[in-house]
Amino acid sequence: MTPTELAALHEAHASDPHAFWLEQARRLDWERVPERSGDTSFDRSDFHIRWYEDGSLNLSANCLDRHLPERANDTALVFEPDEPGAGRSVTYAELHDLTCRLANLLKERGVAKGDRVMIYMPMVPEAAAAMLACARIGAVHSVVFGGFSPESLAGRIDDCGARVVVTADEGVRGGKRIPLKANVDAACDLSGAIDTIIVVTRTGGEVTMREGRDLRWEDHCERLSSDCPAEPMAAEDPLFILYTSGSTGKPKGVVHTTGGYAVWVATTFEWVFDPRPGDLYWCTADIGWITGHSYTLYGPLMTGTPTVMFDGVPTYPDASRLWETIDRLGVTILYTAPTAIRALMREGDEPVRKHRRDSLRLLGTVGEPINPEAWRWYHDVVGDGRRAIVDTWWQTETGGVLMTPLPGATSMKPGSATRPLPGIEPLLVDAEGREIRGNDVSGNLCLRGSWPGQMRTVWGDPQRFIDTYFATYPGLYFTGDGCRRDEDGDYWITGRVDDVINVSGHRIGTAEVESALVAHPLVAEAAVVGAPHDLKGQGIHAFVTLNAGEEGGEHIVRELHAEVRKHIGALAIPERIQFARGLPKTRSGKIMRRILRKIAEGQLDQLGDTSTLADPGVVDALVRDR
Ligand code: WTA
Repeated sequence: MTPTELAALHEAHASDPHAFWLEQARRLDWERVPERSGDTSFDRSDFHIRWYEDGSLNLSANCLDRHLPERANDTALVFEPDEPGAGRSVTYAELHDLTCRLANLLKERGVAKGDRVMIYMPMVPEAAAAMLACARIGAVHSVVFGGFSPESLAGRIDDCGARVVVTADEGVRGGKRIPLKANVDAACDLSGAIDTIIVVTRTGGEVTMREGRDLRWEDHCERLSSDCPAEPMAAEDPLFILYTSGSTGKPKGVVHTTGGYAVWVATTFEWVFDPRPGDLYWCTADIGWITGHSYTLYGPLMTGTPTVMFDGVPTYPDASRLWETIDRLGVTILYTAPTAIRALMREGDEPVRKHRRDSLRLLGTVGEPINPEAWRWYHDVVGDGRRAIVDTWWQTETGGVLMTPLPGATSMKPGSATRPLPGIEPLLVDAEGREIRGNDVSGNLCLRGSWPGQMRTVWGDPQRFIDTYFATYPGLYFTGDGCRRDEDGDYWITGRVDDVINVSGHRIGTAEVESALVAHPLVAEAAVVGAPHDLKGQGIHAFVTLNAGEEGGEHIVRELHAEVRKHIGALAIPERIQFARGLPKTRSGKIMRRILRKIAEGQLDQLGDTSTLADPGVVDALVRDR
């Protein structure tokens, strides 16, 4: 995009937002073209976020059918499994076929419009087909990342009331097998509501199949028709639920609806990545996260951009994996996370330089703040100093990118997401909710007004939606992020200001980890905070008080790890568990996390006033045992 084109977009939005948003909607094929855009204000007490509500469309038709007349035999996706080179390409016609057969199987099992379907799968083409099959018949998909435990999966099944799970026999990551079907079985033992499990064969590993409940994808899809009409969906019909961690309680089911989400993802995909004929686009995110939904699958598929589905890890079989794959497949756009960049940077330049990477034209990053050192390495070594980097800031809740430099139009700054996209109005506020104007300032990042990709509600708990995002600063959407606006007016996200820890780009709620730790019979109390970590961005630091008379030691650490693995998944295992005889509390009994955070960060000279604590002595002990 040129600076003039970008300025024209901002100008178009400023002068006539309604026309601007309807214009963006024209990127899609609608059954009924909307004439309304959105009511974007959060100002009234009865605000209700709706976009394009008089329109109807089907997202699966926009990803598949719209490409069939001209390019049925072009590549829709490239499956790149854990074993390098063992993959295959899938055309739009083939993906359409896979999707329709599965959609017919879902219908045969009684799944109807509005029903929820869980997807717990590796990054195989069938996982894309499963999401698209749900979208095709109007079922609401809820993808759960394969790294979550059976208990987490069961919690999500219960929360959204799903009856059907689509899974695989096993996953394979970094040479290790993940027992997906066995995990689903264990989840069903905990939840009881599931009557159908559809199992795709990935490894051929042995699984137990329960008669009447468990179906082999291959056996059943073969006999079903490869034709399944796409259900016209009202723009505000729910498309999916994706669970994400917040400050308090259990993960919340973020609800995205059909029309606005599709428009925002297609629009931002085109603005940010500027897809062109001949591109091969690779986003390394798993479909278990929002990035996988919006930018591994839906964005590329809607815009007809071939997309790589990567079922491996960047360091397997070795640190050259990404660069070797880029050369072998001819990847032109790479979109990945700072944590992967840091891990690869540690291996030095040689694994990168021994591959040509001359197909690459654009690099992207997402998920956490990128430290300038990693940004420079990405730019200078991976990008040979001549490829642009889009540092895209957004959230599960926002559906798609809200802030990023745009190649050609915005100048890049290492570590800054720079500027909002057209139609997005960020502002910084202080603790009292007053807007902080001017430049060279810091505050809490809020957004004024809605955009089409915004989440609509928390599944089953509309009040939690209001309380979480709109109660802190009435009239504004609060992101949970801290942010600096520099002297040029560019934005720098400084990280979460709530009790969410961003570990390797994955959101983990401190409350969830704490409740896993206190599930151990010897634990009296636990408090969890984030601490800087060289590779992961943030690591989890847990302070644990045991019952009177108990001693902490290696074996309890192992048992506590097991608790976290059981209740959440291995991704939430603390980096460090520190046993403490007591936690710093106010006289009214509130744990002072601010102090724990400083101790975990090693900023011992910044503990502040500890004299108001109920027992100031505990702080000295915590500092001594660090
Ligand atoms: C953080 C991922 C800095 C931020 C798409 C946000 C970022 C949270 C960036 C959302 C970025 C994401 N720079 N921080 N480019 N991108 N974040 O819901 O703290 O998994 O609130 O969505 O990640 O994480 P989520």
